Amino acid sequence: MEIDIQSLDPADQYRLISSTVVPRPIALITTWSERTGHNAAPFSFFNAMGENPPVLAIGLEDKRGSGELKDTTINIKETGEFVVHLVDEALAAAMNVCAISFPPEVSEIEQAGLTLAPSSKVRPQRIVQAPVAFECRKIAMIEVNQHRHITLGEVVRMHVRDGLFDMETGYIDPDRYHPIGRMFGRLYTQTRQHFEMEVPAYEAWLAGGGKEASAGR
Ligand SMILES: Cc1cc2nc3c(=O)[nH]c(=O)nc-3n(C[C@H](O)[C@H](O)[C@H](O)COP(=O)(O)O)c2cc1C
Repeated sequence: MEIDIQSLDPADQYRLISSTVVPRPIALITTWSERTGHNAAPFSFFNAMGENPPVLAIGLEDKRGSGELKDTTINIKETGEFVVHLVDEALAAAMNVCAISFPPEVSEIEQAGLTLAPSSKVRPQRIVQAPVAFECRKIAMIEVNQHRHITLGEVVRMHVRDGLFDMETGYIDPDRYHPIGRMFGRLYTQTRQHFEMEVPAYEAWLAGGGKEASAGR
């Protein structure tokens, strides 16, 4: 089946994109504004784009229906600073509360029972309960169109929950770190099942019989 995705209406494009590129990690983003204080909201059009410098990318859409920018977008535009928190199983329910469209006078952070602590390098504070927090400064906001701002941020500081960082390997311990992934809509996945696969050296590939040997297996 071939799909002319460009001719579909935006809601159908969204269904296809969001249900194929899965699972997506979730960025729970805190921002700050002079007018409204702290804001928190989740975004799953999100990923890491590399190191040196460490760069994160986020797809900020407008408020569906009204076409207004989301508070996160407005605040990053204004201040250039934000904190990205990865969402694990323990943080999932609170993340969901942060997605509710509360009226401006209600704090989603308070409603979600989350606690803020000062960041080291940026003004927006970080969520204490998060397993990982990245303090970020905006590198660029690409206005794909008036409905979407793809935002690139440089990570200027990182916080990791005690016990997650494996000093020996330099990695976050996958047996202790349980981020959730978004499938689509209300569907999420856990990340507890791992498997290993090593890329063989070319010589090892040839010695093993190459493509013919793997086809015969
Ligand atoms: C799991 C999850 C992932 C989401 N991902 C995105 C996303 O990638 N882009 C987006 O614009 N909105 C996304 N949303 C919706 C925003 O979180 C929601 O519109 C939020 O109210 C925006 O808050 P703000 O106006 O305070 O920034 C997501 C919601 C949930 C629950």
